[in-house]
Amino acid sequence: MAGRIPENFIDDVLARTDLVELIDSYVHLKRTGKNYSACCPFHQEKTPSFTVSPEKQFYYCFGCGASGNAIGFLMDYTRLGFVESIETLARNLGLEVPREEGVGAPREDYQPLYQILEAATAFYEAQLRNPKVKERPVGYLKTRGLSGQTAKQFRLGYAPQGWDNLITALGGSDTGVKRLLSAGLLIENEQGHRYDRFRDRVMFPIRDSRGRVIAFGGRVMGNDKPKYLNSPETPVFHKGRELYGLYEAKQASNKIRRFVIVEGYMDVIALAQYGIPYAVATLGTATSRDHIEKLFRHSDELIFCFDGDEAGRRAAWRALENALPTAKDGRQIKFLLLPEGEDPDTLVRKNGKDYFEGLLNECDTLSEYFFKYLSAEVDTRTLDGRARLASLAKPHLEQLPAGVLQQLMLKRLGEITELQDIQLAPPEAPRAEPSAPDARHGLGPGHDYADYPEMEGLHSDQPPPYEEYNAGSRQPVRRKALQKPKQRDELSLVDATIRMLLNAPRQAAELSLPDGLGELQLPRMETLLELFEFIKQKPDASTAAILGHWQNREDGATIFKLAAREFLLPNDEQSPELSDALRRLYLQKVEQDLDQIIADGVKDKNKFKELLHLQKELSK
Ligand code: UTP
Ligand code: MN
Repeated sequence: MAGRIPENFIDDVLARTDLVELIDSYVHLKRTGKNYSACCPFHQEKTPSFTVSPEKQFYYCFGCGASGNAIGFLMDYTRLGFVESIETLARNLGLEVPREEGVGAPREDYQPLYQILEAATAFYEAQLRNPKVKERPVGYLKTRGLSGQTAKQFRLGYAPQGWDNLITALGGSDTGVKRLLSAGLLIENEQGHRYDRFRDRVMFPIRDSRGRVIAFGGRVMGNDKPKYLNSPETPVFHKGRELYGLYEAKQASNKIRRFVIVEGYMDVIALAQYGIPYAVATLGTATSRDHIEKLFRHSDELIFCFDGDEAGRRAAWRALENALPTAKDGRQIKFLLLPEGEDPDTLVRKNGKDYFEGLLNECDTLSEYFFKYLSAEVDTRTLDGRARLASLAKPHLEQLPAGVLQQLMLKRLGEITELQDIQLAPPEAPRAEPSAPDARHGLGPGHDYADYPEMEGLHSDQPPPYEEYNAGSRQPVRRKALQKPKQRDELSLVDATIRMLLNAPRQAAELSLPDGLGELQLPRMETLLELFEFIKQKPDASTAAILGHWQNREDGATIFKLAAREFLLPNDEQSPELSDALRRLYLQKVEQDLDQIIADGVKDKNKFKELLHLQKELSK
């Protein structure tokens, strides 16, 4: 099998291709001001609304929303696949397409990070055999009922007491220290002192789906806070995309029948030890769409498992909201709420594998959980209550892909509400905000990470998955004309920031992100951070080159849509807007921290005051 095309090469091809020339060879372009235009090749029209920007190397159609760079144009116009499109562009430039060794070889620049993380893992593992320090951590793991074999399988370790263990063991040189810092293993304080992030903790290495260690969670053995300390976001670790235990689950069987998604490290490990090797956990974050899609690539059945308390019910509902758009026919999504006060770790230990699998086999389907949850919000004995149920349910059902499940759920809604003829809005029409029953539970703004409204109005239909570009005849992809393009203020703050970064990458490269934004739980925050990281690493990349990085990825469509919005805006208000957006994001992060502190009972008064002060400053 051919290796993948190195990303640098794709950058290079995009940088050298002239989009105007390329498109002009298929569709005659006319100069209009600083752009070029034509009647759109992707929908029927009489007056030209297809625009090509030579400066951005990007095209956009005001009529149908088609947009993209050179690769995207070839894919849509000639219906070539991603790889074939790059090959065509390379041929035009007289270049040979290089291939990386092996499929998806790691990107070279991150190699040293993976190496240092691996070395740290081995160091922590070795401490569990080191007679000088092993007694307490080994004793702790035993009280948690873990076998030596399980500890080995999950590569558990121990970070000893002290401040400079890693520097001494692995990072004497300047480069060594730098790598430890960027891998998140060292902390640097304001005086420039560097010290071990993880001290006197049992270590849980977090591996990516290929088995490389990318981060750690470290648990205290006593009652100190925080119970678990996790690695910060790093170039190789994006918390919102990773699932603890996925690699181990893949190792355990080559065809995973189903996944159970649990809340904690120890749940995954205990389940595996008791013969349920298909559990994964999100890393203290809500289950995102990315998580769900990632799991569906390996199995058709997902079971979400949460504590049975109020927080668990809320988390389950949020997972359900994120799962709705992924619930294609043939996929199964189920929900298991555990008895209060129990988690999978305690349950499987007490009652064993058969009992736990029994729970998994008998839990609610998506549809059952959906109606159970919503029915608890209203009084279905009254007509008013039933009407309210219908209006709560509808926007959610509209999130489902058209198919059998959607039909069945709609029918069920009709039965429960005794309302005839409940109509869903057609997929193109603007959707109402998903009505979140959560709002009633007083979630602060920082915690409200309900699903986001898609940016309708730009693309009335999603581009098909890339394989489909190769199917059938090679006719340009036809799109429906847009309704009136929507205004900018509908964008979420994160999306607006992404758009600004895409529009002015060079300015963005000079800014730095406020601390801790990675912990801000908002849709697409991960993308924003990754984008920022990319721009920092390649400050000269054009918008088209940046988009090349996302081109063949599942989350790419969103980025392209955001880049396209640029065409709808005047060009001259960028920089102040960008730093203002960053300030507002920081404010949200501070507010999220405040919510957390309040939820924890304001134990640290100074921190609380400090945050209040920051909030005031940032709100000015
Ligand atoms: P829980 O508090 O439910 O812990 O957090 P747990 O997994 O049952 O842990 P044990 O059994 O006491 O060891 C669930 C998950 O939330 C994240 C971790 O990923 C944890 O596994 N978490 C929790 C943190 O990141 N930090 C914390 O301080 C607490
Ligand atoms: Mn637990």
